[in-house]
Amino acid sequence: MNKTIEIQITKSPVSKLAETDFDNLAFGHTLSDHLFVADYAQGEWQNPRIEPYAPLSLNPANATLHYGQSVFEGLKAYKNEAGQVLVFRPDANLRRLNESAKRMCIPELPEELFMEGLARLLEIDREWVPSKPGCSLYIRPFIFATDDFLGIRPSQKYKFMILTSPVGHYYSKPVAVKVETQYSRAIEGGTGFAKAAGNYAGSLYPALTGQKQGYDQLLWTDGKTHQYIEESGTMNVMFVINGVLITAPTTTGTILKGITRDSVLILAREMNMPVEERFLSVGELQESLEKGTLQEAFGTGTAATVAHIRLINVNGKDFELPQKPTDAFSNRVLQKLDAIKYGKEEDFRGWVYRY
Ligand code: COI
Repeated sequence: MNKTIEIQITKSPVSKLAETDFDNLAFGHTLSDHLFVADYAQGEWQNPRIEPYAPLSLNPANATLHYGQSVFEGLKAYKNEAGQVLVFRPDANLRRLNESAKRMCIPELPEELFMEGLARLLEIDREWVPSKPGCSLYIRPFIFATDDFLGIRPSQKYKFMILTSPVGHYYSKPVAVKVETQYSRAIEGGTGFAKAAGNYAGSLYPALTGQKQGYDQLLWTDGKTHQYIEESGTMNVMFVINGVLITAPTTTGTILKGITRDSVLILAREMNMPVEERFLSVGELQESLEKGTLQEAFGTGTAATVAHIRLINVNGKDFELPQKPTDAFSNRVLQKLDAIKYGKEEDFRGWVYRY
C-alpha cells in the first residue's frame, strides 16, 4: 500500500458502549458507534469519511432495492492480552470483495480505501472489540448501487461502507444439516463464487424449508446433477473420512472461496493431515456414514469459525455423527486458528494485521 487518503471524521456525540452487554452478544444484533463510508461517482471513489452509525435515507427507486447489485464481506478483529487489536487476513477479504464486485459490475475498491478506512474505524471504535475469550468484532464491509433509476444497467453511483458488530459464537452448539438435492444455490457460469447479496436471498427459502424439518442448515449440492456436495449456507464444509480431510475445490466458480477454508487447508497441510480438494459425492458421503468411516464433518467460515456438524440427513435418512475426541482434527485446527487470531502463536504466515 503506497497511497494515503484523507478521511473526514465526525464522531458520535453519544456512545452505545455503556448500554451494551458484552457478556451476552448474540450474532449481528449489536452495532458499534461508527461507520466508514465512501461514495463512487463520476468514475471514482471519493469522500471517504467516518460517521456516527445511523439509518440511511434511500430513494424508493434505488437500484439495489430492485436489482440487488450489492456485494459484501465478513472478517473479524480480536483483542490480545496486551489490548492490541488484531485483524485476521483483511488483505484476503479485499481481494475477494473485488472479485465479487467485478462479477456484479461494481467498481473495484482501491487497496488504500479499504485498508485505511478499516484502520481508522478500528482506531475510533477500538473499545468495541471484545476482550472476552471466544468473542470478536465482526467487520462487515459492503458495496451497493445508489442510482435512482428503474432501467436495468449497472449503476453509475455506489456506496462503500464498513460497519462493525461485537459478536459471540454464530453457532453455540453443533449443527444438524440436510443434503439438499431439490433446490440449487449456484450453477457454473453463475455468481456462486461471489459474496453477492442475491446468492443469500435465493437460498433463504430452501434453508427455511430445511429448518422447518429440523435442520439448522443445508449442504448444497451442485446445481446440475445434485450428486456432489458443494458448501453450506453460512460456511464451506469439510469432512474427515478414513483420516483424510476432504473439501470441494473452488475451481468451478460455484463455491465461495472461504478465507477460513483456505486457512484450515494451509494449517492442515502444515499439521501433516492428508488433504484432498475434490468433490465428494452424495453416494460416497452416505456410504461413509453407513460404514462409520466418516469421522468428522464441520463448517468453516468467518462468522461460523469451525462449526461442528452433529447430524447429516442424506436422501431422507438421518445419520448421527460419532462423538469427537478432544484430539479430533477439527478441534486441533480450531485451537490453532484461535491461537493465531488472538496473537498467542507467532504469526510467521503474515495473516495478522495489528492496529
Ligand atoms: C461470514 O461468515 O462472514 C458470512 O458472511 C456468513 C454469514 C452467515 C454471516
